[in-house]
Amino acid sequence: MSTETKETKRISVPEIAARKGGEPVVCLTAYTAPMAKILDHHVDMLLIGDSMGMVLYGMPSTLGVTLDMAINHGAAVVRGSRRACIVVDMPFATYEESPEQAYRNCARVLAETGCAAVKLEGGEEMAATVRFLVERGIPVQGHVGLMPQSVNAAGGFKVQGKTAAEAAKVKADARAISDAGAFSIVIEGTVEDVAAEITDDISAVTIGIGASPACDGQVLVTEDVIGLFTEFTPKFVKKYADVGAAIGRAAAEYSAEVKSRAFPGPEHCYGKKK
Ligand code: KIV
Repeated sequence: MSTETKETKRISVPEIAARKGGEPVVCLTAYTAPMAKILDHHVDMLLIGDSMGMVLYGMPSTLGVTLDMAINHGAAVVRGSRRACIVVDMPFATYEESPEQAYRNCARVLAETGCAAVKLEGGEEMAATVRFLVERGIPVQGHVGLMPQSVNAAGGFKVQGKTAAEAAKVKADARAISDAGAFSIVIEGTVEDVAAEITDDISAVTIGIGASPACDGQVLVTEDVIGLFTEFTPKFVKKYADVGAAIGRAAAEYSAEVKSRAFPGPEHCYGKKK
C-alpha cells in the first residue's frame, strides 16, 4: 500500500460539502508535517485539532493552546500534505469575543497556514459569528455536542443528548450553525438518534466523533488510533495499531546496543583516517 500522495490537487471545501449523504468523509487529526505526509493519501480531511494541547504538549485540556501554536502546526501540516482538505481548529478565546475578533484571527490562520477552513466550537450563540465569517469568504466547520473548550462550564467531558432537553439543544445548535453557512459540523459525543436526526435535518456535512455511523463522515485523533496517546481512551476510539509499543521496543533495543557497543557498527561509521 502506497503511503505517498501523488496527486497535487487538494480536495476543496465545495468538494467536501458535495459529499453530503454520499461516500463518508474520512478525517483524522495531524499536527506535524511527517504525520500529515503519512496520512494524506488515506483521508479526505486533516484537522489540526486543539487536541494537540493534550496529545502533543501534555496539557490537562485544550484550553492552553494558543493561536501561534495552531498556526505553526497548521502550516507544518499544509507543507506535509498535498491532497487532503486542511482545517485548523481555532483555539479557545481566539474567536468567542466578537465576530470581528473571530474574523481577524481566522483570517490570520488562513493567510499564515494556507489551510482551507477553520473549525470553531459552539451552537446558537456562535451562529452570528459563523455567518459573519462565511459572508467574508472564510469557510467554517462547526463543532457541537460535547465541546472540549467548555469543559469547565460542563463540569467534565460528558456525552450530550441523552435527555430530551439535551437532545433538543444539540439539534438546535447544529441547525443554527448549518443555517449560518458552515459547510460541515463536527458532532462529538452524542447518541445515535440525535446524530441521525441532525444529519437528516441540516445541509452541512456532519462529521462524527463518538456520534455513531449515522454521520456523513468520521474523525478521530490519530494518536488514539495508532496507540501513541494512552493517558485516557474514550469509548469511541478504535485502536488500529500500537505504535507506542513499537517505539518502546526500538528504544529498548537501541539502549541495549549502545551499552554493549554493538551500535554503531562498521556500516554506520566513516572508517579510520588514511
Ligand atoms: O481537537 C480535536 O482534535 C478535535 C477533533 C477530535 C474533532 O476537535
